[in-house]
Amino acid sequence: MMQLRARRSDPLRGTAAIPGDKSCSHRALILGALAEGETRISGLLDSDDVAATLRAVEAFGATVWRRGDECRVTGAEWRSPAGPIDCGNSGTAARLLMGAAAGFGLAVTFTGDASLSNRPMRRVTEPLARMGARFDGGDRLPIRLAGGGLCGIDLVSEPPSAQVKSAILLAGLRAQGPVTVREPIPTRDHSEIMLRQFGADLAIDEGVVSLGEQRSLVGCELAIAADPSSAAFALTAAAIVPGSCVEVGDLLVNPLRTGLFEALVEMGAEVELSDERIQSGENVATVQIAHGALQPIEIAAERVPAMVDEIPLIAVAAAFADGESMIHGLDSLRYKESDRLAALVAGLTACGVRATLRGDSLHVFGHRRVSGGAKVEARGDHRIAMAFLVLGLASDEPVEVDSAEMIATSFPGFIATMRALGAEIE
Ligand code: S3P
Repeated sequence: MMQLRARRSDPLRGTAAIPGDKSCSHRALILGALAEGETRISGLLDSDDVAATLRAVEAFGATVWRRGDECRVTGAEWRSPAGPIDCGNSGTAARLLMGAAAGFGLAVTFTGDASLSNRPMRRVTEPLARMGARFDGGDRLPIRLAGGGLCGIDLVSEPPSAQVKSAILLAGLRAQGPVTVREPIPTRDHSEIMLRQFGADLAIDEGVVSLGEQRSLVGCELAIAADPSSAAFALTAAAIVPGSCVEVGDLLVNPLRTGLFEALVEMGAEVELSDERIQSGENVATVQIAHGALQPIEIAAERVPAMVDEIPLIAVAAAFADGESMIHGLDSLRYKESDRLAALVAGLTACGVRATLRGDSLHVFGHRRVSGGAKVEARGDHRIAMAFLVLGLASDEPVEVDSAEMIATSFPGFIATMRALGAEIE
């Protein structure tokens, strides 16, 4: 097991090197594999999760060439792969690939690692089955799918999930009839934005997404911006380590992903956006965050989807804010790469921060000083490992995480990036 330790650091300064967005990288490979002709992608994330999707689309028949973050995908009529599709640790790979594959007359078994095999899949298989896909298996991987012959659907996506919405839209590309997904609370819309880049026709209006007549995709050119969920570690570190100022360029600032940055502003960190522009249909900017004395925050459930992967970092920031912070509507965190609510309460408590759960609300009782001095269980969860290493950069005593290898699923350069800013992580 790879153990890492973070200790109180001098002010963090500089420009953080952040790799391409994970959500967009999965989607670029899958849409490229469904499209006619070649798709040229720059900024593709080179991580274990994205590698699982890349191998999967090759197994379904697409041709992929890749060098570093440059990639070319030539689409194909998907066929039954020679063996099971191993989605590794990635829920996005499993759920989006199931949706995309369901449109074809093929048979495939999806598998994953121990964590993924413990995550719910019925939220995707149930609506896909309503469209006509056949499944063997229950709520957990391994699951066998026989696709093809799909009809339309009108789905209310509850609880909010961009993965479920995306799976239905991808299946809908090859379905007969109207396909509509209704979202009571909006979730990340990268699938919708990227489908338009590939020439698909979508109507989007106040939380209702419908596929239009034009559902065949044509290869295109995509530039993927830096991942706000990875940048979040460096930028939250800047918010809690006194005297810090860190910048990230070419950052994806889709408003359905920037909840953490808005929360940090509200808490008292100094956040500045510059060089705002549109790239491949997405909002991109340079973001700079400087330390400020943090105040506690209360976050309502409707705000959670825009920061769903950053809740561990909100909890870390709250640990350094004097008083009680409350984050509501967190049930979905129990079903991520680990039970993140349990992992956060245990880790914060070990670091000397009082934290409790009341229903699906997390309460964190912060102080300007956090003792640290603990070994935190990462529970095989990349974001829990990285969040507690960030906490250790500002705590009185070092914080150790028991297993850090899973960081490679989303942000293989995390340690180098953080050290380059001055973080003491070893
Ligand atoms: C993702 C959607 C979210 C998020 C995950 C990536 C996506 O999951 O937590 O890391 O790329 O669509 P849910 O759809 O389960 O909320």
